[in-house]
Amino acid sequence: MAQPLTQHQVNLRGLSTFGLNATCEQLICLESIDQLSSLPEDHPSHRLILGGGSNTIFLSDWPGTIWLNQIRGLSHRLEGEEVVVEVGAGESWHGLVMHCLEQGWHGLENLALIPGSVGAAPIQNIGAYGVELSSCLEQVVVWDIKRHEVKHLNPKQCQFGYRDSLFKHKAGSDYLIVRVDLRLSKTFTPKTQYESLHRALSSLPHHSLDAKTLVSQIIELRSERLPDPSTLKNAGSFFKNPVVTAEACQSIQRLHPQLPSWPVETDLPSSNGPSGLPNHKISAAWMIDRLGLKGRCIGDICVYDRHALVLVNRGQGSAEALEQLVGEIQTAVYNEFGVQLETEPQLIKA
Ligand code: FAD
Ligand code: EPU
Repeated sequence: MAQPLTQHQVNLRGLSTFGLNATCEQLICLESIDQLSSLPEDHPSHRLILGGGSNTIFLSDWPGTIWLNQIRGLSHRLEGEEVVVEVGAGESWHGLVMHCLEQGWHGLENLALIPGSVGAAPIQNIGAYGVELSSCLEQVVVWDIKRHEVKHLNPKQCQFGYRDSLFKHKAGSDYLIVRVDLRLSKTFTPKTQYESLHRALSSLPHHSLDAKTLVSQIIELRSERLPDPSTLKNAGSFFKNPVVTAEACQSIQRLHPQLPSWPVETDLPSSNGPSGLPNHKISAAWMIDRLGLKGRCIGDICVYDRHALVLVNRGQGSAEALEQLVGEIQTAVYNEFGVQLETEPQLIKA
């Protein structure tokens, strides 16, 4: 077994799509599960796992080790009308979506063009256009860093929520995802309820929708709204859409009737508000836009002028400017709407 490639004092600018200047003490490139058992014990607070860096922002140098997940591989098995695809955590997510599309394995279409690695997809339960990863997840295979063993976690054990999972909490913090297994279908069942997707599809000439057309529509919609990190540095949505009780949502909408909101589907009635009505997600983009903050810049860090939920780094942005702009947005939204915006990407500060 080849020892993993290890580098010291590595510049992290190119390893995070937000592109702030930072370095790490040590970088270990993991290419196989076997290499994991030979890794030296590391204090958890000095260790960080990285995939494509599209949801990780370095606000300072990292005084420890980064484990860069590059474990590849893809295999599948057919089970009647379904197929289980087993994918190495270091594979590209969008590459996987396109591969499955070519093979006629369905379920991932709405998740096309999300940057990053397969292994990071369960971390925040990636979602777009009305579909979340959890809807087609069979199991997650992890390396338990503390116990030095492989574990298989089913969807329930992963505790998926909106931009949330076990892996974002203490109980999952010693797990390195090495493989993600997905259960896909040979039958295409389009999911087109998401409003802007529905609108875009209804303007197409009438014919039955096929999977390739759906994927190209998703790619077109995303390309109109979201900056391509290879030309403009960003980490996608910078804030989560707040989830509030139905009562709180109604009270904000009395003053701001146009605020977009969506009921949150949940199996847990206890997580709803006092009336038992489902909680609502409210649009953070709309609130930031409404406050006139689109295009606002501090140095090279700006609110993207085509989507208010995205912050961009025009090139030489600093961590201080980013923190200042984030604080400004959170304060303005809180003062006007009474809701606290939570950041979505992982903000790393030693
Ligand atoms: P990284 O940034 O490398 O890591 C993210 C987190 O996961 C970190 O905490 C890291 O420690 C942890 N992690 C990574 N790999 C592993 C592993 N193997 N084991 C354990 N922990 C690990 N997200 C959406 O949900 N929907 C979208 O529509 C969407 N659109 C985006 C558009 C743009 C332009 C950009 C830049 C980002 C977008 N994102 C979106 C966010 C991002 O693409 C996803 O969160 C993606 O899954 C991150 O993958 P990554 O490999 O780059 O993760
Ligand atoms: N809107 C504005 N102003 C803007 C942009 C949007 O008012 O500048 C309004 C739109 O008119 C729309 C609403 O906000 O009514 C929602 O906009 P959009 O459909 O673009 O979705 P979003 O809530 O801003 C979420 C995800 C995205 C995902 C899209 C599509 C979060 C935090 N973000 O964005 O995920 O791609 O829906 O499903 O949930 C990411 O996580 O990084 C990400 C890009």
